[in-house]
Amino acid sequence: MKKEISFNAFEMNCISHLSPGLWRYPNDKALCYKDMEYWQNIARIAQKGLFDAVFIADVLGIYEQYRGNDISALKTALQVPVNDPLSLAVIGAGASEHVGFGITAGVPFEHPFAFARRLSTLDHLSKGRIGWNIVTGYLPSANRNMGSTELPHDERYELADEYMEVIYKLLEGSWEDDAVILDKLTGDFANPAKIHHIAHHGKYFDVP
Ligand SMILES: Cc1cc2nc3c(=O)[nH]c(=O)nc-3n(C[C@H](O)[C@H](O)[C@H](O)COP(=O)(O)O)c2cc1C
Repeated sequence: MKKEISFNAFEMNCISHLSPGLWRYPNDKALCYKDMEYWQNIARIAQKGLFDAVFIADVLGIYEQYRGNDISALKTALQVPVNDPLSLAVIGAGASEHVGFGITAGVPFEHPFAFARRLSTLDHLSKGRIGWNIVTGYLPSANRNMGSTELPHDERYELADEYMEVIYKLLEGSWEDDAVILDKLTGDFANPAKIHHIAHHGKYFDVP
């Protein structure tokens, strides 16, 4: 069997992912991260270069390990300020035809029902060119920002397992493939018999 290798461009919706200070280089464009054209351009370059996808990292907190505070991270723009990664997938998909977009989203930070809808919206708009970097979050400051405390490592993954169960049930178990009938004569858009409550009752989530 022929082996395939996939290429992803690694990006983050901020000035510096792991290269603080590079924004000072005259040809560096990272300061344009708030411009739509910047991300359209990245999608076009990735596509032209035959990359499979653009991967967009994310965090919801600030690094505070160095000297026990966030001063250095703020001073050097180390992954802060950082904007939402999901909208970049829409912008990139609109500017390209066949490059994929992998967005990062942490499972403890958004209810799975709301996130499943956002993911499926991206899936539709990008015509299936969306991927999800499923992370459990490693910054205690992110948990504090969300009003929660960091779970012990293994429990984070236990929660992630259940989160994924809910997401799969919603995306693959609620609307059957032939639930939408589009009968213009009767006016029936869908067949309710083919649309199911997922009735999830777990340790962390209850989703009818
Ligand atoms: C290629 C790669 C990209 C990652 N990107 C992110 C990211 O964008 N956001 C994040 O919170 N964690 C990211 N992580 C970290 C993982 O979510 C995870 O916390 C890390 O691999 C440590 O594993 P642990 O959670 O079992 O300690 C990334 C890890 C890898 C290997």
